[in-house]
Amino acid sequence: MAAIGSAVGLGNVWRFPYVCYESGGGAFLIPYFVALFTAGIPLMILELSVGHWARSSPPEAFKKIGKKWEWAGWWTVLVPFIIAWYYIVVMAWCFSYMIYSLDLRWGVHAENFFKNFLGDTGSPAIIGDISVPVLLGLIVVWLCVFLILYKGVGRIGKVVAITVPLPTILLILLTIRGLTLPGAIEGISYYLTPNFSRLFDINVWLSAYAQVFFSLSLAQGIMITYASFLKKKSDITNNAFIISLADAGTSFLAGFTVFSVVGYLAFSQGISIPDLGLRIAGPNLTFITYPTAISLLPFAAVFFGMVFYIALLMFGIDSAFSMIEPITVGVNKKFKISKAKATGVICIVGFFASLLFATGSGLHWLDIVDHFVANFGLVMIGLVECLILGWMFKLSKIRDHANKTSEVYLGRWWDYLIKFVIPFVLFILLFVAMVNNIVNPYLGYPWWIIVLGGVAPCLSVFLLSFVFMKIKQRNEVI
Ligand code: PFF
Repeated sequence: MAAIGSAVGLGNVWRFPYVCYESGGGAFLIPYFVALFTAGIPLMILELSVGHWARSSPPEAFKKIGKKWEWAGWWTVLVPFIIAWYYIVVMAWCFSYMIYSLDLRWGVHAENFFKNFLGDTGSPAIIGDISVPVLLGLIVVWLCVFLILYKGVGRIGKVVAITVPLPTILLILLTIRGLTLPGAIEGISYYLTPNFSRLFDINVWLSAYAQVFFSLSLAQGIMITYASFLKKKSDITNNAFIISLADAGTSFLAGFTVFSVVGYLAFSQGISIPDLGLRIAGPNLTFITYPTAISLLPFAAVFFGMVFYIALLMFGIDSAFSMIEPITVGVNKKFKISKAKATGVICIVGFFASLLFATGSGLHWLDIVDHFVANFGLVMIGLVECLILGWMFKLSKIRDHANKTSEVYLGRWWDYLIKFVIPFVLFILLFVAMVNNIVNPYLGYPWWIIVLGGVAPCLSVFLLSFVFMKIKQRNEVI
């Protein structure tokens, strides 16, 4: 349940529908499911098996695989910690918007309202002031993360028993409301009408793999950590299938929720859906387009506004704490400090780091850091994970471990996927993305911004993972 909570998050509600319609609508489901079955589920099985076999945090698990690989474990837990810095900022926005929906405060100019709310300076080069409502939201969300995690895994179990099923029910409710609005069907057909010619575009296939990785929370040390808490007899492959299919199902459902409302918005403004343009993308969808549509609802607008942001907060919270849990377990075990202290230190550091994204330039930095850390950091870790476990270790040992407790038997095909297919795909993905980024700097930003927001965070977590490994070695000598 906690793993489903981690996988299902903000990424499902706005990212999947958007990527899907951008990448060929209904036809995108083909690369998406290919990516899910050839990379997502096999890697999910790998991570769950490693965690269950090692019964420890990712750094310790990698150390068990080979002493010199401990850094890889630290790397996997440091990247989601950085993702959390800005992921929680988006949740802070949701928190404020949940309150604003009480009087639909964004009015008829949701775009201006959003910019004022952020104190947006319009450029990453002008830092601007910290937005007070965002700061308050940040305090609330980081505090929740601390309170959920500091006592250990027991509390996570209780929280996810609510934060997984409830927002799903709310999402279904919102979908029913969306589908009964005028214009909804046009929205849905826009989302799902297949454009098969897009399947010949390599970028569409890359988007599918990247979406599966981000959405399933793979290559983040999360599944390794959570699996280490599973009972000895837990069925690994069944768990992997349930988590992955629940995540894919929620994404697919969220497409209906979002595009029915997008169709309604276009209908009520008397324009076509393509004319809504960029307003469908990322944060704009959640904080400009959706609120505008909510204001136009014929009745119960306040109710549906609240429900939407509450659902987002609940979807987000279990993803957020799952990003923090692996590093706290790692620090707790390595430095022999209590779980509460480790959680406290990590949350305080995270809170201060989040402040950069709460400034007037925050939206821009968030977008830049997300682009580089989520795309490159994540895919690189996935690749390294496959290479270490597939080539530097006897993979059949992990497979035997999974087979011992699982109903679905893993054959040799799984080894081939981990050793050849997935690394090959990830390598191509990285290569194409790198060339793309070098030829066309992201959004045309100057190089210093790309170095500061992209290269620096990716490189520093990589180097930091070696520092963490070395600290231990020194202790051992002493
Ligand atoms: N899977 C989450 C989502 O789809 O929103 C996002 C996520 C969670 C990414 C945890 C990375 C992570 F470590």
